[in-house]
Amino acid sequence: MRLLVTGGAGYIGSHAALALLEAGHTVVVVDSLERGCRASIATLGSLGGGRFHFEEMDVRETAKLTSVLRDHAIDAVLHFAALAYVGESVTEPLRYYDCNVGGGISLLRAMVDAKISRIIFSSSCATYGAPTAAQLPLREDAPQVPVNPYGDTKLVMEGLLRSACASGTPLAAAALRYFNVAGADAQCRIGEQHQPETHLIPITLEVALGRRSALTIFGDDYPTQDGTCIRDYVHVSDLVDAHLAALAALEIGQCKAWNVGLGCGHSVRDVVESCRRVSARRIDVQFAPRRAGDPAVLYADPSAIKRDLGWHAKFSSLDAITASAWKWMNRGSVPTA
Ligand SMILES: NC(=O)c1ccc[n+]([C@@H]2O[C@H](COP(=O)([O-])OP(=O)(O)OC[C@H]3O[C@@H](n4cnc5c(N)ncnc54)[C@H](O)[C@@H]3O)[C@@H](O)[C@H]2O)c1
Repeated sequence: MRLLVTGGAGYIGSHAALALLEAGHTVVVVDSLERGCRASIATLGSLGGGRFHFEEMDVRETAKLTSVLRDHAIDAVLHFAALAYVGESVTEPLRYYDCNVGGGISLLRAMVDAKISRIIFSSSCATYGAPTAAQLPLREDAPQVPVNPYGDTKLVMEGLLRSACASGTPLAAAALRYFNVAGADAQCRIGEQHQPETHLIPITLEVALGRRSALTIFGDDYPTQDGTCIRDYVHVSDLVDAHLAALAALEIGQCKAWNVGLGCGHSVRDVVESCRRVSARRIDVQFAPRRAGDPAVLYADPSAIKRDLGWHAKFSSLDAITASAWKWMNRGSVPTA
């Protein structure tokens, strides 16, 4: 197949592009490089040869995007491009709606113009907001009431995809609601390197490496067993597998939604302990007040994606995920498999 990967210079998009190339597909990455990593594009270029193409552009450039879709005779789109920092979305909501919703509208217009009918969308557990204990683990039909503008933009996009699929336009869509993604390519060719980094596992491992003096834990008074927030961690390679499975299951006129998580919650303190185990290093922590927009507990019920797509996670423990991230952070000094 010939696939367009928006946001393919970013963390998850670059892992998806790599897996698609390895599966023999042709990949066209569109990325503005507002975030993401130019080195990942170079790596993909060297691995993909003539089957990899990169267009440095914004997905809001609709006419140019339509040409890219047509020129490369794209079969389906994986839409990762977005701004994805919760805190930033609280202070800059217009920028987030413009990029995440404006970008999505532009992409759908281009797809309709170029007669491309299949799309997988990166949604988020942030669309569930702050669920009650009775709503956990989260099924896909749990109420979606985001508590920050980032989550709002993802929910708007899900609604847009549902309406577009129902409109008679030949369109097939799937929204994958990612929980917390971590880990890296097994051979450490690419990995997680957000700038700035805001994700818990890489930050904790940066403390282990001595690049930061301590991990700041925001809130130790949540109504959880150890007082810290609980999240569901999924390995990036397992997440990419979910995309490949979802692509094969798309049906014109339907917009599907699946959670992608392991189905178990780990507290921030659990993550710190796991990072201490896999790194065998000292990791100092300090505590700060809760941050706005952080729900206490989020973890998935992944039974729908297991049932419908036969998906299962190969990285099934927190230690397997943190060990993968640790290996990436030590690339160059640790032999790669
Ligand atoms: N990382 C996670 O744990 C997580 C969890 C849930 C959902 N998601 C979603 O997954 C997707 C990928 O996340 P990530 O962690 O890889 O983020 P990332 O920031 O590493 O990658 C996003 C990429 O999109 C590009 N981009 C942003 N706006 C663009 C635009 N208008 N036009 C073209 N390119 C643009 C950036 O330059 C970047 O390379 C995002 O949609 C995010 O919301 C991520």
